[in-house]
Amino acid sequence: QQYTEEIERFNPQSSEEVEAFRLRFLVAKGIVRGLFEEFKSVSPDEKRSLGKVLNEFKQAAEQKYKAMQERFASAGPRPKQAAEDLTLPGEGFVFGSRHPLSLVRKEIVEIFKKLGFIVADGPEIEDDWHNFTALNFPPEHPARDMQDTFFIKKQEGNDIALRTHTSSVQVRMMENGKPPFRAIMPGRVYRNEAISARAHCFFHQVEGLYVDENVSFADLKQTLYYFVQELFGDGTQVRFRPSYFPFTEPSAEMDISCTICKGQGCTLCKNTGWVEILGCGMVDPNVLENCGIDSERYSGFAFGMGIERITNLKYEIKDLRLFSENDVRFLSQFDAEL
Ligand code: PHE
Repeated sequence: QQYTEEIERFNPQSSEEVEAFRLRFLVAKGIVRGLFEEFKSVSPDEKRSLGKVLNEFKQAAEQKYKAMQERFASAGPRPKQAAEDLTLPGEGFVFGSRHPLSLVRKEIVEIFKKLGFIVADGPEIEDDWHNFTALNFPPEHPARDMQDTFFIKKQEGNDIALRTHTSSVQVRMMENGKPPFRAIMPGRVYRNEAISARAHCFFHQVEGLYVDENVSFADLKQTLYYFVQELFGDGTQVRFRPSYFPFTEPSAEMDISCTICKGQGCTLCKNTGWVEILGCGMVDPNVLENCGIDSERYSGFAFGMGIERITNLKYEIKDLRLFSENDVRFLSQFDAEL
């Protein structure tokens, strides 16, 4: 009886009060359920008369709750206007922006397209053959180590792993086609590194491959030189330093004159005036042969760069983690260019 009156009197002023009502009466440990529990232990005689009262009480509580809920739902946060002015202009669309890595990838692709390179794609889950063995990695090479590679499945002679570079796409391309090849391979790659401002467990690369008759190191240099002028502006200087990759011989790393201080010295280039942007070299004849290509007849060059590194240089971004945090304050600073 006491509760029935309470329900009748209930006249909430806010949706919070309606919620409090629900919690008091209607949840699993609420009053309605409690009374039904007590009901179980009364005598059969009483049950007959009480049952009806109890059911009515339950219905009353539920109906009241529903009615009150509707009252506040239709009130909503914004009071309904009697008449909308239909001549008012609409609210304008908010456009999203392109992710900086997508912007830079697109720029890189466009430049190489002008030189006749096509875009090739391959799986992110790779086998040992395409990621390492075909690329001339010796069996005990440290890059195969658990510390660098995320292995998915151990498999006799051909483990399955997340690709550590997009060079695997070069192998697939050469295995499945005939020279000449002229392609770039943008894609995500994975390495087992602790996440910090300067390293991440995944990042993005663009690799390139050019295989034909009489391809020389001069072709490699001129192609990359042109690329840098297009991407970073005329007058950007390049230098090649000898390096080592299992799949190229000779190999080099390419530096450009620091885009921030223009060679004057700054924290980005650690006062050297130069920043490394990619690895490159002439495709090792072993790799060509592993992919079924006659290394007597054909030669080629390959290169690979990290998109994050290039984006950092172009936009002066100092923390890699920004790329994957999805913070709109960061992302909205970039163009909405489609
Ligand atoms: N695959 C190399 C890397 O991931 C980059 C590279 C590609 C170097 C092609 C030389 C030639 O570091």
